[in-house]
Amino acid sequence: MKERGNFNSRLGFIMASAGSAVGLGNIWKFPFEVGAGGGAAFLVIYLFFALVLCFPVMTAEIAIGRKAQASPVTAFKKLGFARWSGVGYLGLAAGFLILSFYNVVAAWSFGYFFEMLQGHFEISQHFSEYTANWLKIGLYSLIFMSGTAYIVSRGISHGIERAAKALMPTLLFLIVGLIIYALTLPNAITGIKHYLLPDFSKITPTIVYSALGQAFFSLSLGMGALITFGSYVKKDANIVTAAAIITFTDVFIAFLAGLMMFPFVAYVTQGDLTAMSAISGEEAFIFETLPNVFNSLGPTLGVVIGSLFFLLLSFAALTSTISLLEVPTAFLVDEKKVSRGKATWTVAILIFLIGLPSLLGNGASAFFSEFIQFPNSTSPISFMSMVGMIGGSTFLSVGGFLISVFVAYVWGKSNFELEIQSDNEGTIGRWLKQYVQFAIRWICPLVLGIISLTTILDIYFGISLF
Ligand code: PFF
Repeated sequence: MKERGNFNSRLGFIMASAGSAVGLGNIWKFPFEVGAGGGAAFLVIYLFFALVLCFPVMTAEIAIGRKAQASPVTAFKKLGFARWSGVGYLGLAAGFLILSFYNVVAAWSFGYFFEMLQGHFEISQHFSEYTANWLKIGLYSLIFMSGTAYIVSRGISHGIERAAKALMPTLLFLIVGLIIYALTLPNAITGIKHYLLPDFSKITPTIVYSALGQAFFSLSLGMGALITFGSYVKKDANIVTAAAIITFTDVFIAFLAGLMMFPFVAYVTQGDLTAMSAISGEEAFIFETLPNVFNSLGPTLGVVIGSLFFLLLSFAALTSTISLLEVPTAFLVDEKKVSRGKATWTVAILIFLIGLPSLLGNGASAFFSEFIQFPNSTSPISFMSMVGMIGGSTFLSVGGFLISVFVAYVWGKSNFELEIQSDNEGTIGRWLKQYVQFAIRWICPLVLGIISLTTILDIYFGISLF
């Protein structure tokens, strides 16, 4: 068999996985979800899901991948449970759907980088015209997808690991720089208070489910991305502590994104709480409001801070699109014996095409912009929002539920324990390992099962149990 490739070091694996986790989800989605979900009230629920539920699922995914040395579909077969390869196919479908719309949002961000460089701050008033300009956005998304495919086609250590090692530290540097700057703006403290003081009245079952969906999406879980990355990890690496570091990094960067964003919100609304609540819960917040912030900083500083911000966003998106493309690529390599280069470009072209309705569904085509209305919702949503809901939320939580059931009750407790054992685990590592083993059997299947089921009934069938 041809060499599949490996990460050169455990650090390389951690950086690539953290790169997968940290993305548009942290910087674009997380702050507005916090805004809509009552500040720290949402944050607490989110933290609970990430640490208590997602961390064990992440360990489980990495363990499956490393044991089988294969990407999801092949992995379930290699472990001797061919029937479960359906979970791998569900993951593949999720990956296709997520990347198809994610690449469009990445293209918006990448395009904004050039707009900010040219000082086009007034773009914030024309965001809907910008997204409706399908030719321009099409070009940016083609460039973004090609960049992603180029890196993935170069393989694990030469492409993915190298890119993550260059981009992740840059990203951290940019975000810390921007936070320091944001904190010097007038009303920054009011913004931070709005972020960190909880408003529990905003918590509804929908918000709880969106926190779960957000945690899965943000940690790249439930679709086998970490099964795939795990398959390139060396046998002696301690995967429990690696999963803990990846989870912590992702949560920490989402938290930092809030620290950067809320002072900006407070600055632009001059500390007005009602106005702050209104805009911080808006999906288009970073595209419609932030350019005004940058504009008011004056021509030079505005260009510098504005373009750095969108560069940060583009880098964060790139390390995630890489992992999204790696999953179907690895499927073709492992399962269909296609060469890596051919596999990468084939999937990239296919996903770009699947993404066209999302690209057109933001103003260019009325049909795709108001595509479907779910039973309990008040207005139709776009093709892109639908794809995000199905692939980016439902499939991931269902996938996470099935993965935890598989590891706990099918593959089995002792196989899992053998795979996550390590010679150099230390006291904390041992506690974490014990917790993971407990949670994967008793907490994850139950909680994920209940929440996924009730939400599917609610969103898709209009049956509310609560
Ligand atoms: N975790 C990424 C983000 O937060 O933006 C999105 C993502 C990447 C989801 C990779 C799933 C995945 F496999």
